[in-house]
Amino acid sequence: MSRIYLDHNASTPVRPEVLEAMLPYFGGHFGNASSVHAFGQEARGAIEDARAQVAALLNATPGEIVFTSGGTESDNIGVIGGARALPLKGRHVIVSAVEHDAVRHAADALERDGFTVTRVAPDARGVVAPESIAAAIRPDTALVSVMAANNETGVVQPVAEIGAICAERGVAYHVDAVQAAGKTPIDVQAWHVTMATIAGHKFYAPKGVGALYVKRGFKPVPLQFGGEHEKGRRPGTENVPAIVGLGKASELALQELNDVAPQVARLRDRLETLIMERVPNVIRHGDGAPRVPNTSHLSFVGAEGEHLILSLDMKGVAVSSGAACKAGSSHPSHVLLAMGVPREVAQSAVRFSLGRCTTEQEIDRVLEVLPTVVSKLRASSPTAAS
Ligand SMILES: Cc1ncc(COP(=O)(O)O)c(C=O)c1O
Repeated sequence: MSRIYLDHNASTPVRPEVLEAMLPYFGGHFGNASSVHAFGQEARGAIEDARAQVAALLNATPGEIVFTSGGTESDNIGVIGGARALPLKGRHVIVSAVEHDAVRHAADALERDGFTVTRVAPDARGVVAPESIAAAIRPDTALVSVMAANNETGVVQPVAEIGAICAERGVAYHVDAVQAAGKTPIDVQAWHVTMATIAGHKFYAPKGVGALYVKRGFKPVPLQFGGEHEKGRRPGTENVPAIVGLGKASELALQELNDVAPQVARLRDRLETLIMERVPNVIRHGDGAPRVPNTSHLSFVGAEGEHLILSLDMKGVAVSSGAACKAGSSHPSHVLLAMGVPREVAQSAVRFSLGRCTTEQEIDRVLEVLPTVVSKLRASSPTAAS
């Protein structure tokens, strides 16, 4: 049985071109980028090329890109380091209620540190209204963090409008763009962003590497202490192969976005439409909101989401309930609860996230097995036929 992978929001495979670009840096090109000799300079050159590639993806300049260990670290520097950068501004921070845990828990840490945190709820579609952010800004607000695209629902936030409000009110703005990279254009200029996070493994680069865009002149307080790497913004010897991979993946994402996004959207829409036609009582989350092209988050009311995921896995179809770090836990998604989705509906949610290599045949296979899996689970549920 060939397995079907529809969990690209959790992680993507490393592309062959990306692997090929990385391999020399695991071999002969092993130098430390801080060394002055030729080995070091070879590594330095590769990092600077990658910096330019990442900058191009974000519409930034290379000097504004800081390499990190991934989305979580970038979010932590963005939220905690960003809030601490402005001690004179005040100790109030605003985050949306649908952020990834990397932002939510960074905000919780700030709260434990004496900051006040306002968590802004989205509307029923999962969209955070710019007016709600404007209303939450106070004279002592140092930072706002609202993501570009939600990892569970795929809902795209009005980041440019929120950014314009922050710029006008003199508030730093961090955007978690982890789920936007490779799926929708990112433009830190048009979005009026102070800092933006991306993570390699969500767009065909390896795990454990990411970047933080930091607008020229802004200085988030570092969270780690060590050498002067990354101009003192993130100490630690650079992970050269992974950074080279991130650069290559960024270059490819930028080149291919216009072709890949419509192709993935067509398959996602087909999957969604036919599921809703063939399976009764399905709720589409993020309905009516702009969404990234690859994500479909559906509740199969009356069937437990975790059981559905396991049953589908036994049929060779890999999907998830939402945030990967929640796998195995039966807590309903904080994103869906924040959107006002009832607990039992949230608990029946399954996320299908397609990738650039997803095929029509794979979608057909899912459509073939899903209806039976859902009806079996519904029939065996304690609340069956209620
Ligand atoms: C929106 C979002 N932010 C941050 C992260 C964390 O990124 P990483 O896994 O690279 O730490 C993820 C990963 O699931 C994510 O989806």
